[in-house]
Amino acid sequence: MNDPPRPLLLSALAGETVPRPPVWFMRQAGRSLPEYRALREKAGDFISFCLNPTLAAEATLQPMRRFAFDAAIVFADILLIPLALGQEVWFEAGEGPRLGPRPELATLRAGLAAIETRLAPVGETIAAARAALESSRALIGFVGGPWTVATYMLEGRGGDRAGARSLAFADPEMVDQLVELLVEASVIYLAMQARAGAQALQIFESWAELLPEDLFQRLVTAPHARIVQRLRAMGVSQPVIGFPRGAGALVAEYAASSGVQAVGLDVQAPASLGRRLQSQGLAIQGALDPLLLRVGGAGLDRRVDQLLEQWGQGPYIFNLGHGVIPDTPIEHIERVVRRVTGA
Ligand code: CP3
Repeated sequence: MNDPPRPLLLSALAGETVPRPPVWFMRQAGRSLPEYRALREKAGDFISFCLNPTLAAEATLQPMRRFAFDAAIVFADILLIPLALGQEVWFEAGEGPRLGPRPELATLRAGLAAIETRLAPVGETIAAARAALESSRALIGFVGGPWTVATYMLEGRGGDRAGARSLAFADPEMVDQLVELLVEASVIYLAMQARAGAQALQIFESWAELLPEDLFQRLVTAPHARIVQRLRAMGVSQPVIGFPRGAGALVAEYAASSGVQAVGLDVQAPASLGRRLQSQGLAIQGALDPLLLRVGGAGLDRRVDQLLEQWGQGPYIFNLGHGVIPDTPIEHIERVVRRVTGA
């Protein structure tokens, strides 16, 4: 009997030669899909939606039915960790996330013990989505990067993160302790996702921009390295994709020291940088501009071809440089996926 086909994503992450780059999109589930918007109507508030395994598995699978993506990503949110640690989180319609007052570090630390039970529904979502997905397609689990999650916990909302960066300068010990706590929480949560059936794990460090080199090293690269090391020490062997969005020239140092198996690149990443990482034995992922995906046209086709040409020879996962923009035409997503898969 033949073994079931290994997902192309996992082959690419292992550095194997593949017939074509695998493709999936960050935020492929969500408001760009009418079926998501319909599900969202039924689901109540966003947090309850994320913690409802039946609905969240459905949201995970919706883009897989419509498009020939090689991987699904579990439908959840990076802010479930602060919630599980005891900080209030809610979403203001049309405005984004809001967080309540930040509990003392000791209180947050006590919350570590509750991560597995409080976030168990995400494990159930993963198990349900994995069971429904073809074996040729991979399922990705994720966390927010500790610094990115800390910025939300420190500021209480999104924004320019000047408040969080100011605190990193003014009270480095407190920020280091918060980031370390989030490393511990991330390890527990990622290990649980891996046990539930996640086959690759992504760290979304969405706010890696604007950090000077020493802070970047301390708040991004070193914490990611600790996450990877501790997962391996626990026997979790799933490949890790690190996405330090906005890291710019610091990506090289990140790639060399974080211990991740693949590096997500953002829209500005030069072709030469990606090739250098590939030649160092890393897989790369990215980096189509989501705005170009939304605009479409001949320029979109040209850029897709250019990305395939410049990176397609090494371990490469075709993706965006950030998430799908909610009003992106579905035909544009379809066209890009067809162009990459050759279907
Ligand atoms: O398809 C997928 O990528 C899987 C699900 C996913 C969501 N959030 C669902 C979501 C993932 C991987 C995330 C990660 C996430 N969440 C990040 C990192 C990636 C990035 O975009 O930088 C961040 C910073 C968050 C925090 C967050 N969640 C914000 C800032 C917002 C509001 C902004 C917005 O787009 O409305 C969310 C809400 C959110 N998370 C939505 C979805 C589908 C939209 C909420 C809705 O449906 O009303």
